[in-house]
Amino acid sequence: MELWKLLLAWMGLVLMLRTGEAQLNPNFYQVSCPSVESIVRQAVLKKLKQTIVTVPATLRLFFHDCFVEGCDASVIIASPRGDAEKDAPDNLSLAGDGFDTVIKAKQAVEAQCPGVVSCADILAIAARDVVVLSGGPTFAVELGRRDGVTSRADRVTGNLPGPEFSVDLLSSMFRKNNLSTRDMIALSGAHTVGFSHCSRFADRLYSFNSTSPVDPSMNPAYAKALMRVCPRNVDPTIAINMDLNTPITFDNVYYKNLLNGEGLFTSDQVLFTDQRSRPVVKEFAADQNSFFKAFASSMIRLGRLGVKTGSQGEIRRDCTAFN
Ligand code: HEM
Ligand SMILES: *[C@@H]1O[C@H](CO)[C@@H](O)[C@H](O)[C@H]1NC(C)=O
Ligand SMILES: *[C@@H]1O[C@H](CO)[C@@H](O)[C@H](O)[C@H]1NC(C)=O
Ligand SMILES: *[C@@H]1O[C@H](CO)[C@@H](O)[C@H](O)[C@H]1NC(C)=O
Repeated sequence: MELWKLLLAWMGLVLMLRTGEAQLNPNFYQVSCPSVESIVRQAVLKKLKQTIVTVPATLRLFFHDCFVEGCDASVIIASPRGDAEKDAPDNLSLAGDGFDTVIKAKQAVEAQCPGVVSCADILAIAARDVVVLSGGPTFAVELGRRDGVTSRADRVTGNLPGPEFSVDLLSSMFRKNNLSTRDMIALSGAHTVGFSHCSRFADRLYSFNSTSPVDPSMNPAYAKALMRVCPRNVDPTIAINMDLNTPITFDNVYYKNLLNGEGLFTSDQVLFTDQRSRPVVKEFAADQNSFFKAFASSMIRLGRLGVKTGSQGEIRRDCTAFN
């Protein structure tokens, strides 16, 4: 090796030791569990054949995990006292199939490489896989996360965006997580798949303000269709497709819907009504490749949040319990 390369490598090592920060790396399990990705993919496929909910449930679970205490699988911990992350008021809407996907994939991985692969990494791989399996972009998942050793419901409040958020609120919450407004707009494209309960947008249909019960930024025909499926006092367990046009395909139709006033949540539609985010919405609506490229790199950045590496945290044996 040339001297300068040696010097650079040595400097890198010193820097790493000083900051105590090991880097994530797509080849992290190359030696210790070389087939981890195919084992996870098989488990995800098997689960997907049982229910299509596997796709949105797993993708959203990854987002919620990363935004609270970092991507460390803390959201999967089950607490007998009902005070873990998953028990926070937002819990009801995290579909059980996302948890089940990770738990099943972990069991399959443990059978071949016991005690080696973290639940946090399995969730990250599964989230990428469901995007690919529903027609979205593929990308190399960075690996080497360790599982967190705390999971508290009270850490959720204030750390997840709400469906009533403005662009300012959305941007500042993503900024706090090292993600730009463009990342936020690209990641919101995840709402091209999955379901929502009526209560999350009922205000936009029935009680927007005193002069206009319906949110005027909503396409009137779309509002009517939503009122049919979500009448006042609807059964609170009813959930509807978020993308009425292509609900189970990962595509850029989410952005095309925004152009037509067919965003489901305020936090979706404001991306188009706000002049600052509108150009990016138009770009993604016009060019699916551009959306796919942005989504893939934003998912990689999302996956770096608050990760535990090296000797931090642990490799959980069972994703629902600390060792
Ligand atoms: C930008 C701010 C965001 C807000 C305000 C938001 C809000 C919501 C809400 C209220 C629901 C409906 C939950 C329910 O009633 O069941 C939902 C569903 C969903 N969200 Fe988001 N979300 C945001 C960003 C994201 C991101 C970044 C992702 C993933 C990368 C994501 C993925 C999903 C998915 C896949 C579903 C469907 C879940 C299912 O069908 O089980 N969301 N979101
Ligand atoms: C969700 O959280 C609420 C309160 O935070 C709790 O009462 C409820 O049992 C939880 N539901 C589920 C399905 O875990
Ligand atoms: C209701 O919302 C519309 C559209 O945003 C607005 O023009 C109107 O002034 C609002 N009315 C009240 C009473 O705030
Ligand atoms: C954001 O980046 C800064 C600087 O690299 C880092 O110190 C901080 O921990 C990151 N925040 C999260 C939530 O990962």
